[in-house]
Amino acid sequence: HRGFLPPVTGRTRIYGILADPIYHVKTPEVMNALLTSRGVDGVLVPFHVKPDGLKTLVDGLRRMENFGGFIATVPHKTDMLALCDEVTGAARNIGAVNCVRREADGRMVGAMLDGIGFVEALRVANADPAGMSVYLAGAGGASSAIAFALAEAGVVHITVANRTIERAKGLTERLRAAYPALTVDTDADRIANHDLVVNGTSLGMRLNDEPPLDLSRLRGDQLVADAIMEPAMTPLLKAAEAKGCRIFPGKPMLESQIVLMAQHMGALA
Ligand code: ATR
Repeated sequence: HRGFLPPVTGRTRIYGILADPIYHVKTPEVMNALLTSRGVDGVLVPFHVKPDGLKTLVDGLRRMENFGGFIATVPHKTDMLALCDEVTGAARNIGAVNCVRREADGRMVGAMLDGIGFVEALRVANADPAGMSVYLAGAGGASSAIAFALAEAGVVHITVANRTIERAKGLTERLRAAYPALTVDTDADRIANHDLVVNGTSLGMRLNDEPPLDLSRLRGDQLVADAIMEPAMTPLLKAAEAKGCRIFPGKPMLESQIVLMAQHMGALA
């Protein structure tokens, strides 16, 4: 992957990814490959920062004139919301920021692109969710981002099913407040009533995880998407494919998000 790194000169624009821990992040390889392939004179590097150092680092980056912006990931997404000077509507709704552009005057503009990348990947695959009814397993950070992006994309109904029912109710209430025309419920059993079934939980990452939803209720004409990146084929996607469903693994969804992040940071037009 080091072969993708462009030559760094005095004119190269610097971008970052902020995380703790940092060693596992794949974004530098993916983003630098993208920037190189588009002929951009920019480089994204890992910044290992702990939560109690985040504000000091961000304030310092405001004064770094050749700095274009950064991606924020675990555990910084929620804390970044209050550290930005301006945030998008989606970031405010979700309560988290995962990508920040540094303006020429040092102002930090935050966006939340997690769910938007997910929706963009569906659109690119000719599965525009506008008008669809959606079953979403999960009500955590990833699920919230996906739910708000789907609402913004014009889905008509979202069922949020979650182990902790209060969390599902909280997410549906926030969705209803932001999108009055959207109908919502938390009925975990009505899987077959939906056009699109999404796993936003972490179930499926580990070998012995139980499935995130009752696989026997899937219908062969449903679209089934999984936000899990690794493994690419989760037990949910395998079961859905065996039933004849059209499936959407998480990894290509991340790739479409990388482009949106580069655009938000101003690295790509
Ligand atoms: P992320 O940012 O990845 O969404 P998160 O906010 O911790 O992480 O959310 C994890 C999601 O996976 C939640 O919906 C969680 O359910 P709870 O809200 O009940 O915790 C779900 N999840 C994780 N482990 C689970 C398990 N063993 N069984 C059922 N749901 C699980």
